[in-house]
Amino acid sequence: MTQRLYIETFGCQMNERDSEIMAQLLGEHSYVQTNKPELADVVVVNTCSIRGKAAHKAYSCFGRYKKLKEKHHDFILAVTGCVAQQDGTALLERMPYIDIVMGPQSIYTLPSLVAEARRSKKPQVATELSADFVIPPFLPNLAESTPHKRFITIMQGCDNFCTYCVVPYTRGREISRSFTDILGEATHLVAQGVKEITLIGQNVNSYGKKGDAAQNKSFPELLRAVAGIDGLQRLRFTSSHPKDLSEELMRCFAEIPVLCPHFHLPVQSGSNRILERMNRKYTIEAYLDKAARLREYRPDIALTTDIIVGFPGETEEDFAATMQVVETVRYHGSYSFKYSDRPNAKAADFPDKVAEAVKSERLARLQVRQEEIALELKQAEIGKSVEVMVEGASKAPANQWSGRTGGNQIVNFSCDRKLVPGDLLMVEIESACQNSLRGKMI
Ligand code: 5AD
Ligand code: SF4
Repeated sequence: MTQRLYIETFGCQMNERDSEIMAQLLGEHSYVQTNKPELADVVVVNTCSIRGKAAHKAYSCFGRYKKLKEKHHDFILAVTGCVAQQDGTALLERMPYIDIVMGPQSIYTLPSLVAEARRSKKPQVATELSADFVIPPFLPNLAESTPHKRFITIMQGCDNFCTYCVVPYTRGREISRSFTDILGEATHLVAQGVKEITLIGQNVNSYGKKGDAAQNKSFPELLRAVAGIDGLQRLRFTSSHPKDLSEELMRCFAEIPVLCPHFHLPVQSGSNRILERMNRKYTIEAYLDKAARLREYRPDIALTTDIIVGFPGETEEDFAATMQVVETVRYHGSYSFKYSDRPNAKAADFPDKVAEAVKSERLARLQVRQEEIALELKQAEIGKSVEVMVEGASKAPANQWSGRTGGNQIVNFSCDRKLVPGDLLMVEIESACQNSLRGKMI
């Protein structure tokens, strides 16, 4: 009998990919996805706990599902992701209406946990984190229609222990996936019509450094192997740690034509004193040198970053150093956040916390300047012809389409022809606004 599954996903691309895997696993047990939670037999909430705000969002949505259970019918409520891993059984104590709590490493057991929760009518908890965990081999999904772009997880976990970060505690030790299995998945996806692949992991640059699953292959070797699959048009990856960015990886940007000219290189702070307290293991000079070298290999490369403001002990002078990095690098985009304490993360115990009002004021200053720079970089594209991969039709007016450049900028353009997502074409840029470029198809 067909049953219905509703999944709500928060957080990063790792979570998005995990949600796809859970849908596939339950799909093999006759579950189909619905976008109406009130019709679902199983609701999965895939949570994020990277910052205080993200975890808060997850908690407020549990309350909504409690009400839905009371009002409609009793579905199985499963909570996974980083909040589930972090809070484990404490979640059940606070919210006894939750049926399943499982960490990111346990998502593969979802079908058996659902069956057991139904049979026993007792809550199920699966939050073991094992350093010997092996990422299960991929299962070709023949049932789904394949979109033009897909994520492939190449590693899980993180061993860096930045002092602000919860990830090593929620995702466990760094584990690389089998090289052969990743290639098998990529080959299968391209044969199904996928045009763009993004290789994802918490720290892809250190692929293959731990354990033997990677079969002695490095990340650049993996990139070259995936890039060689006939029919693949675009290849991307995320996320990277600057300390692990090797010359060999930079060279890939000059030598692999399908590798998109975009690099997300989180800087976090421009002050060496703060970088040290964050346990980032690079100096700002080394970071800037790598950013410059990347541009030598690929002059059109778009650099984006993550920045934390108001880390414990950050002075006005430290913050000025961060502003200076933004001026020097001229990022195409940045994700910036106010520092927040996270459970287990060392910095939560650092004494010299920055006042909330100071954090807010610094963040606003940073974002205003970053937006100006991003707009200037977009304006510099006017008059150029850029290669765009079609994402889909704009809602209105007719004949308007939307796509992305290799540098990951959104481009809206007009074209009378019928296009399909994944088509590649050239667009002449005519104008720029804060979040997108506009042009016409050549
Ligand atoms: N407070 C604020 N920002 C954080 N990030 C990670 N942990 C914290 C925290 N405790 C940011 C970092 C990271 C991004 C994913 O989230 O900038 O790169
Ligand atoms: Fe959030 Fe990090 Fe977990 Fe992704 S890995 S869901 S960003 S806490």
